[in-house]
Amino acid sequence: MTGGIAAYKACELLRRLTESGHDVTVVPTDSALEFVGAPTWAALSGRPVATDVWTDVHRVPHVRLGQSADLVVVAPATADTIARAAHGLADDLLTNTLLTARCPVVLAPAMHTEMWEHPATQANVATLRERGVLVIEPAEGRLTGKDTGKGRLPEPAEIFELCTQVLARSAAGGGAGVQDLAGRHVVVSAGGTREYLDPVRFLGNRSSGLQGFALARAAAARGAEVTLVAANANLPDPAGVKVVRVETIAQLRDVVVPAAASADAVVMAAAPADFRPATYSDAKMKKAADGSAPAIELVQNPDVLHEISTTRPRPDTVVVGFAAETGDDTGSVLDLARAKLARKGCDLLVVNDVSGGAVFGSPENEAVILGADGTATDVPRGSKSALAHAIWDEVVRRLQD
Ligand code: CTP
Repeated sequence: MTGGIAAYKACELLRRLTESGHDVTVVPTDSALEFVGAPTWAALSGRPVATDVWTDVHRVPHVRLGQSADLVVVAPATADTIARAAHGLADDLLTNTLLTARCPVVLAPAMHTEMWEHPATQANVATLRERGVLVIEPAEGRLTGKDTGKGRLPEPAEIFELCTQVLARSAAGGGAGVQDLAGRHVVVSAGGTREYLDPVRFLGNRSSGLQGFALARAAAARGAEVTLVAANANLPDPAGVKVVRVETIAQLRDVVVPAAASADAVVMAAAPADFRPATYSDAKMKKAADGSAPAIELVQNPDVLHEISTTRPRPDTVVVGFAAETGDDTGSVLDLARAKLARKGCDLLVVNDVSGGAVFGSPENEAVILGADGTATDVPRGSKSALAHAIWDEVVRRLQD
């Protein structure tokens, strides 16, 4: 913990980590204790708290803490601590711990926008990222006082989620591969679009956005710069992810297509509406006096996945689509999916067999990931997070250096 006002939010992160069974030692800086006192950290962690290297010297804490840790997470991380870490200073227990840690290190910066954007901070962040530290992007929103901007600490529940994924990948023996998307920019779309008839009515679909958000979270935990284009998803911003909220397919396209131009990978997990009303009424449509119902004419929407796959401003971008299929007289689920993969022109198609019922809103999913190169990877029923990681595994395999 370092000395920012967001230190109070770190209490919640600490609580989530301990309640999920982790042993947590809190190492605050002296400044952090100006915001939240040592008794709070000690009570919540159930462990003694020190800021300096002179307490319990016989246990050599300045070396032992870092060496024995499975994960070091600094939340909030101030500009000062980021600078000290980047330069390898070791003037308190926290910076000693950072120098001795060989496990994954996650920094969650929180500071005013000017301090975050300053070239000194940006250079320090770049240095740390080059060394394999996972420095997550701060969130945008209300800062201390009345100002708003980039620099907020992401929500503790989301930092916890990211830490959990980093720990799991590290425990599974990921080694240097834990952050195999570091230095990559990925774009993910999620949710379902709404196509408006008038200011209060729309055509929509049941997509919850859960799978797209799981993809964004997983990519952030693997070190990617993530742009998440979220259509009407009632879900919190994942930590370290740039979230752009949209409603209609026109808005979604306006964000996804330009973002795709510089992306290493684009995953279209959203369910954009295939059709929209041909006309939009500025005023709320009224019931007719004679009781007749209006006929609503529909026009077809642009296919964003097809557009990105066929225009390819960067030929090496890996483009991923989703397809919910049921087999019919013309072919099996996989036959139809192979034909769709070719039609769409994407590199990978994640196929859900929805013959037995919908997956919408469910925390679980199962799929086959088809590759344009002929591969078919079965992902058994499991969490949407597990499917997300399986998809990124396939993407990583196809990314060129
Ligand atoms: N998609 C898109 N733009 C649209 C519609 C869909 O980019 N206007 C993307 C989705 O994000 C998803 C994939 O295309 O990745 C789904 O393909 P789609 O053709 O919509 O699937 P179905 O609705 O199942 O298609 P069809 O009715 O043709 O079988």
